[in-house]
Amino acid sequence: MLMKHTLTLLLMLASCLFGRAAEPMDWRGIMIDVSRHFMPLDFLYRQVDAMQHFGLNKLHLHLTDAAGWRMEIKSRPRLTEVGAWRPEANWQTWWDGDRHYGGSYGGYYTQEELRQLVTYAMERGVDIVPEIEFPAHSEEVVAAYPELGFNHAELDMQKSEVYRFMRDVLCEVADVFPSEYLHLGGDEAATQHELQPIGMRQVKHIVDSLGRKMIVWDEALTDEPADSTMVIMVWRNPDTAKKAIDLHHPVIMCPGAWCYFDKCQDAPMTQPRSAGGYLPLEKVYAFRPLPDVLGIQGNVWTEHIATPDHAEHMLWPRAIAIAQLASGEHLAWDVFRQKAVEGTRWLRDTLGVNAFNLDTEVGERPERGRPIRCATTGCNVSYNTPFHPAYPAAGECTLTDGLQGGWSNTDGRWQGFIGRRGMDVTIDLGRRQRLSCIEASFLQSTGPEIFLPSQLIISASNDGTNFTTLQHTTLPDSPAPERYETLGWKGHTRTRFIRFQAVPGARQGWIFCDEIMAR
Ligand code: ACM
Repeated sequence: MLMKHTLTLLLMLASCLFGRAAEPMDWRGIMIDVSRHFMPLDFLYRQVDAMQHFGLNKLHLHLTDAAGWRMEIKSRPRLTEVGAWRPEANWQTWWDGDRHYGGSYGGYYTQEELRQLVTYAMERGVDIVPEIEFPAHSEEVVAAYPELGFNHAELDMQKSEVYRFMRDVLCEVADVFPSEYLHLGGDEAATQHELQPIGMRQVKHIVDSLGRKMIVWDEALTDEPADSTMVIMVWRNPDTAKKAIDLHHPVIMCPGAWCYFDKCQDAPMTQPRSAGGYLPLEKVYAFRPLPDVLGIQGNVWTEHIATPDHAEHMLWPRAIAIAQLASGEHLAWDVFRQKAVEGTRWLRDTLGVNAFNLDTEVGERPERGRPIRCATTGCNVSYNTPFHPAYPAAGECTLTDGLQGGWSNTDGRWQGFIGRRGMDVTIDLGRRQRLSCIEASFLQSTGPEIFLPSQLIISASNDGTNFTTLQHTTLPDSPAPERYETLGWKGHTRTRFIRFQAVPGARQGWIFCDEIMAR
């Protein structure tokens, strides 16, 4: 008896000291975009098997978007006759081109195929949650049924036939997917802003009448007192989650900075094509969701991911981090990483999943961890063209603070410039100095339209007014999706002021610079 009491006390003490595992979150999800590139069924079955192994329980399928409608709808056959096909397999080429429909690339799942997948997943503890986009991201719907369009991309929220269409579609969707939740999009509508809350409410009536709960992306959050059955999926600013919770909405967090698995998970030049950015396993695992959320999710958007192998490479092992964070059991990073290494091995050996191999991980850009000291360090920078407020990095000290950026253009070290004149700055060294090298490091990441400059003009002055050009170079366009280059001048000069101009090429887009260095 005494022994038993002592044991109980010891267990209580241990749980106070070391913390008790919290309950698992209700929503432990991944999202796969099967619209931008159609993914075969065997790939989806394999992801269900993998999810079961790691305790993930929600598979959100992004079934509709401009690039393809992927579910058979018997009452609206043109959705798949027209909207499931395009002439061009490569999404970027298609998107930059005429965006025609029809042709031989694409595909869709029949209702029977989806029913079988749903049953298989349900037997393994995984709910499949379908997403039907409304009102935006609907180019393929407008192509199939032009009378529903407000413009080429959005359904017209003032037309009653749009809601008849949504009812017919959602009845069939609900019939195939028994999920408690239906996802109705609501993101990135560019027009009809004042109508969107009314439109989303109308669609919500339909979802309610089907006995389901509606999920929407966070753009659809309004300041209205909450309808607590509307679930907000937060993908942009994580602070939105707090606002949604305060308004009594259930919240699923998948903020892009930690949960968008279309970013590279290792040094970009070692990796297959991505949407740009750097999101290693360690950063996913560092995600700290609010305690009161329904759950969390990792999202694979497939604009640049054309094959199941590539999609698996992006998903795993990062989805293991989502599973661990959602499980309520906190493991120290080193312990978790080892678990992820073993999990990855299991995925590869047992399921044949093409998971990213952590044993080959290169890691962060070395320059990010190596502060620089040179003639420009700490010097004043005058901006002849302003940096863009969306990418200020550390503000006016960024380009001479001795700190270089990492693989991610949003890591707070890269400063962004946009416009015809690109970057044009003058650095005051404080006194004349003998220099043999003036250079700056730039980034190219074609996903977010950041390009290396096409011209560099480096000039010197002793009075800050009259400049002599040291170098004017023209650089060829590079097709590489990701590049990091240090570009500049070598020679001999004595100068106090340096002017550094980096001009965009024909592709225009952004110029990103992290540091200007002189020796
Ligand atoms: C989204 O990434 N537009 C939800």
